Amino acid sequence: MERIVSLCKRRGFIFQSSEIYGGINGFWDYGPLGAELKRNLKDAWWRTMTQRRDDVVGLDATIIMHPKIWHASGHTTTFADPMVDCLLTKKRFRADQIEPSSGIVYSFAGAEARDAGFKVERAYSVLLQKGEHPDRARKTARLYYAQTANQPTLADKIELQGEKTEKVENSTRFNPENGSLLTEPRLFNLMFKTCVGPVESEENTAYLRPETAQAIFAQFKNTLEVSRQKVPFGICQMGKAFRNEINPRNFTFRSREFEQMELEFFIRPDEAVEAICGSVAQPAQPGHPGQPQANWGWQLWHQYWVEERLAFYEGIGLPRTSLVEYWQKPEELAHYARATVDILYKFPFSKRDEKGELMGEELEGVAARSDFDLSQHQRFSGKAMTVFDEELKAAWPKLEEKRQQELTERYCGARKKYLTKMGEEEPAAEKAAREDAANLARGYYVPHVIEPSAGVDRLALALICNAYAEDQAPDEKGKMETRILMRFHPRIAPIKVAVFPLLKNKPELVKKALEVRDLLRPHLTVFYDEAGAIGRRYRRQDEAGTPFGVTIDFETLGEKGPELKDTVTLRERDTMKQTRLPISGLVAALAEKTR
Ligand code: GAP
Repeated sequence: MERIVSLCKRRGFIFQSSEIYGGINGFWDYGPLGAELKRNLKDAWWRTMTQRRDDVVGLDATIIMHPKIWHASGHTTTFADPMVDCLLTKKRFRADQIEPSSGIVYSFAGAEARDAGFKVERAYSVLLQKGEHPDRARKTARLYYAQTANQPTLADKIELQGEKTEKVENSTRFNPENGSLLTEPRLFNLMFKTCVGPVESEENTAYLRPETAQAIFAQFKNTLEVSRQKVPFGICQMGKAFRNEINPRNFTFRSREFEQMELEFFIRPDEAVEAICGSVAQPAQPGHPGQPQANWGWQLWHQYWVEERLAFYEGIGLPRTSLVEYWQKPEELAHYARATVDILYKFPFSKRDEKGELMGEELEGVAARSDFDLSQHQRFSGKAMTVFDEELKAAWPKLEEKRQQELTERYCGARKKYLTKMGEEEPAAEKAAREDAANLARGYYVPHVIEPSAGVDRLALALICNAYAEDQAPDEKGKMETRILMRFHPRIAPIKVAVFPLLKNKPELVKKALEVRDLLRPHLTVFYDEAGAIGRRYRRQDEAGTPFGVTIDFETLGEKGPELKDTVTLRERDTMKQTRLPISGLVAALAEKTR
C-alpha cells in the first residue's frame, strides 16, 4: 500500500488536503490525474445508471437541507458511532473497531507521591500481552497518574497502590497500542453541524448532508410529477457527503469529506404486485435475473441491482475475483432493511480470513429498505408520499374476496409493524395501518425502495490499487529494468492517448505531432509530450496509466517510402506492442478501444 500511496502523490492522483499547513486528517485532494480519473468513473456511473436507462432520472440537490430531513431519516438520533478514548494518550477510537486482546490485566487503586504532596484514589489498569514484563504496566500506570496531576515529571516518584492482577480473554477495554484502559463507550453523532444565517442559535442549526440519498426522498414527489415516470422507476444522484468519522483511516478509504453515487429505485409493495400479477416471482437461482418483469417483488429487484452493480464494476476493470458479495447477517441489518448486500473490494489493507485470503472492504451497499424512508418523510412533513397505481386499482376488484382480505391483512400488518417501531401508540398505529390498507385497495401506496449506494473515493482507490503493477521492460540501452505501470481500463484511464514526436528538434515531426494531437483532442483526453528520450516518455505515461501512445516518426513524414507516409505507431501500454496505423484511421481505432 505504501508504494501506491507514494505513487499517488508523485504522479498527482491524490494529495493530502492543506498539506502546506501540515494536512487535515480525513480530507484529501485529487491532483490532475486523480481529478480526471474521478470524473471518468462518475461519468461512467451516471451514463450507466440514468442516461442508458428509460426508468431512472437524475437529481442534483443541495448539500445543506432543512434539518427536519435528518430528524425524519433518523440521522440526528441514530447516526452515531460508539467512541472510546485512551486514558493515557487521549487517542480516540471507534469502540467497534478495537481488536480484542488477551493477557494479564494489572489494576491499581490509586497512587501517591508523598514528597510532592500528591495522592489520587482512582482505579486504572493496563493490559499486558503474553511475555511482557510487569514493570511495563507499572510504568504506564505511573505515567497515567502523573498526567492526572498535570505533572509528567512526577512519574518516577509515584508509588502505586492496591496492585491486583487478573487474566482476561478477548477484551476490547484496552488500547491495542499501549495496553492502557479506555473510557466507557459513548455515542458520537457523525454529522457536521453548521449555522444558516448570521445568528448562531439552536433554531439556525443545519447539517452538512451525511448521505445524498435523503434529498432523493425529499424530492420524490416533485421528480415523479415532472418526469412522467411510474413505479417501478428510480432517481439517482451523486455528490459530496460529510461524516465526522472518529477514526479516518486507510488513505482515502474512510474520509470525512467524500462523494457518493446513490440510486433510489422505487418499486411496488409485494402485495400490489400480487394483486396485479396473481403472484410474486421468486428468485430461482443466483446471478442476473434478466430483464425486469412486472411480477418481480423486492427480492428479485434486489438481486437484479446487486448483479447490475457487479457488472458495472467489471465493466470499468475490476475483475470479479477482486470483488466479494457479502450478505449482511440478520443482526447486522438496519431495522428497516429486509436485506443488504455489501459489494466489497479486496483492498491490500483488507483483513485476511483463516486461509489467508483478503476479505475485502465495502465499496457499495445494495439495500432493500422497504417503504421506511418515504413513510418517515410522509409522517414528518405531513405531505403524502403515496403514488396512485392505475393497474392496481383496476386489478383489485377482480380479486376474490378471500385474496383481498389476505393481502389487506398482510399489508396492514407490515404498516402497523413500521408505525409501532417508530413509536406510534398501538390504537393509533392500528387505525393508520387500516387506512393505509384501505388505500391500497383503491390503488394508493407508499413505494418501497432498493438502494444501491456507492462511494466515489473508495471506487477511485480500488481502481488505483487494482491498476498498480510492476513488470520488467528494457531501458534505452536494452537493459531490463522495473517498470511501474497503472493498468487502468481504457474507459476510466485519466488520459486516453499520449502523442509523441520522435524527436523534439525536428520541426516537421513536431508539426505533424501537433496536427495529430489536434485531430484527436475533440474525441479523447490527449497528452502531448516532446520532452526527453522516447523511452522515458513511454514510462511516464505507463505510470499515469495512459493506455495508448501515438508516435510520429520519419516513416510518418514519408522518408522511408511513400507507402508509410501519414502512418504512425500505436503503442499499447500493457503489452508494449506497437502497430502501424494510418492517421486517418486513428480516431475510429482509439474510439473503439476506449469506449
Ligand atoms: N444512503 C446509504 C448510505 O449512505 P453507507 O453504507 O453509509 O450508506 C454508502 O454509505 C457508501 O458511501 C459506502 O459504501 C462507501 O462507499 C461510501 N462511504 C461511506 N462512508 C464513507 C467515508 N467515511 N469515506 C469514504 N466513503 C464512504
